[in-house]
Amino acid sequence: MLDRAKERFGDGPKVELRDHDLRVPLPDARAAKVVVSGLAIHHLEDHRKRELFGEVHGLLAPGGVFANLDLVRSASARLHERFRCEIGRVEDDPTDRLAGLDEQMAWLREVGFAEVDCHFKWLEMALVVAVKAQPPPHEE
Ligand SMILES: C[S@@+](CC[C@H](N)C(=O)[O-])C[C@H]1O[C@@H](n2cnc3c(N)ncnc32)[C@H](O)[C@@H]1O
Repeated sequence: MLDRAKERFGDGPKVELRDHDLRVPLPDARAAKVVVSGLAIHHLEDHRKRELFGEVHGLLAPGGVFANLDLVRSASARLHERFRCEIGRVEDDPTDRLAGLDEQMAWLREVGFAEVDCHFKWLEMALVVAVKAQPPPHEE
């Protein structure tokens, strides 16, 4: 994926590519307005997902947005089977560590996100968007 990103963005001054294992804490960075993740966090153990959500919250500026499109656990074995069928996968990926949508949204709230919502869901694929609170406007 990093090679593809390099091809797409080159060495432009606005882009810095970093190779980072999400199992370890995020490196320091400037306050971000947006953090996006696509189909990666479901590979982490649940305790690390929750920690990572806290680190993302810490990284965001007030009003910043975290958008995570990822796989979530099905409500039943039958629905899991259906999802696998729909995407044409014969076997489970042994590196998947699927957590429920509800529990992940609860973790996002617990680490401090003010507005947490699921904007799209199809079987095991869900887009969750979490917004960091803005401080209230200063009163004179
Ligand atoms: C299903 S692919 C998705 C790739 C891409 N993000 C996309 O949406 O098409 C899962 C990605 O998660 C990455 N990944 C898995 N475990 C990771 C980890 N511990 N740290 C960083 N990336 C990880 C893999 O390298 C792979 O690129």
